[in-house]
Amino acid sequence: MLETGPHLVLPKIENLHKLDVYLKNGGFDAYKKAIKMTSDEVIAEVKASNLRGRGGACFSTGMKWSFMPKGNEKPKYLAINGDESEPGSFKDRQIFEYNPHQLIEGILIAGYAMGIKTAFIYIRGEYHKWVKCMQDAVDEAYAAGYIGEKMKKTFGNDYTIDIVVHKGAGAYICGEETSLMSSLEGDRGYPRFKPPFPANKGLWGMPTTINNVETLATVVPIMNMGAEAYKQIGAVEHPGTLLYGISGHINKPGVYELPTGTLLTEILFDLCGGVPNNKKIKAIIPGGSSMPPLRGDEIEGVRMDNESLRKIGTYIGTAGVMVMDEDTDIVKVTLRIAHFYHHESCGQCTPCREGCGWMEKILKRIYKGEGTSQDIDLLLSVASNIEGNTICALGDAAAWPVRGFILKFRDEFEARVKKQRSFISLNVVHGRRNTSQTLVQTV
Ligand SMILES: Cc1cc2nc3c(=O)[nH]c(=O)nc-3n(C[C@H](O)[C@H](O)[C@H](O)COP(=O)(O)O)c2cc1C
Ligand code: SF4
Repeated sequence: MLETGPHLVLPKIENLHKLDVYLKNGGFDAYKKAIKMTSDEVIAEVKASNLRGRGGACFSTGMKWSFMPKGNEKPKYLAINGDESEPGSFKDRQIFEYNPHQLIEGILIAGYAMGIKTAFIYIRGEYHKWVKCMQDAVDEAYAAGYIGEKMKKTFGNDYTIDIVVHKGAGAYICGEETSLMSSLEGDRGYPRFKPPFPANKGLWGMPTTINNVETLATVVPIMNMGAEAYKQIGAVEHPGTLLYGISGHINKPGVYELPTGTLLTEILFDLCGGVPNNKKIKAIIPGGSSMPPLRGDEIEGVRMDNESLRKIGTYIGTAGVMVMDEDTDIVKVTLRIAHFYHHESCGQCTPCREGCGWMEKILKRIYKGEGTSQDIDLLLSVASNIEGNTICALGDAAAWPVRGFILKFRDEFEARVKKQRSFISLNVVHGRRNTSQTLVQTV
């Protein structure tokens, strides 16, 4: 973890995961401030801060909270999304491990603002270590009266909330918010059509808000410092700090908390020590495996906030930056990513179920040197037919990197296909037939 940046979420304090240390460092001051305000005032403050969700979609958190129905007798729920299964994303688990009480405090503030009495922290099943970290913190907070009935005495206020740590079974699709709800209800993790949106019909048919772990942890400094001060950090339209997860061909990989809008080159070279053996960067993915890539020669001057990245055809996503050096086989990377999405597709909608399989199949034959140049355009066509035609955004997440890598590195795909052409003629000379032409017809 880095020692620079404003440290809104990951301060470098020894044993901060212990409640007494958290309390000594201003823990629950933000919540005490929040309960002196009305719930509408808390929502207005979060809206004014322009905090945008850290789960990938970058939607306004205050706005999302304001969608929750008020003054209704039905139970309402908060689901905290800690599934974090996208390749290249590994930031939320840092909060579970190093600063779980800040997440609990964020949950208390969100719960108070929306009148929610039950919250579920959904963590991917395989993340045993982080499930334990979070469960230990929740148990400690219950015992000390910072969650549950005893909160009334601790804070001198009638509001209480219960927090349940829930272990998922381990599927990327369960990070998609409607699928997460199906999984929490005990069903197969199938995404649902929207509308109805979770604020109207969520968990067990009741109004529900789903927020990312980092999003809720960030609410604490917003309440502490006020929306105006928070907005001064980072990019104007996407303010605050981000937990950037840097992986791949980089000397100092890790999670770095830095303002939004930080120069990508500053992160990669000044803070992360550049690429091993001083190799050139061939490509980077800026926000987890589903985001379109950038070429190494495009990264100069690029700022890491959603609006800056949108202007150049990609997105901030989860701020999981994946670095690929000059020796990287781009066709192989694209195939690997396509394999992941094909494997993780829940199979409910045809364009995603079939299209992801087709993309993997075509890429596999290009990778093996058995493709034709039509295959490259076929891939683009399959990607376009998936995008926007599915129940959930996994379809888009599968299509974007395939299209992005072809658009940015078509030469590498062409080179693989050209090799194939000479291979075919060689076989013909020797009187053998290659079967790849038949394969092309089948997809
Ligand atoms: C396939 C898929 C996987 C997702 N996985 C996650 C995840 O692991 N964690 C997360 O917070 N959001 C994930 N999301 C986004 C959620 O659907 C949702 O937008 C987010 O949890 C909302 O929280 P936020 O507004 O605080 O960002 C995923 C979306 C899709 C389509
Ligand atoms: S887009 Fe894919 S993952 Fe999402 S519902 Fe359809 S088949 Fe399932």
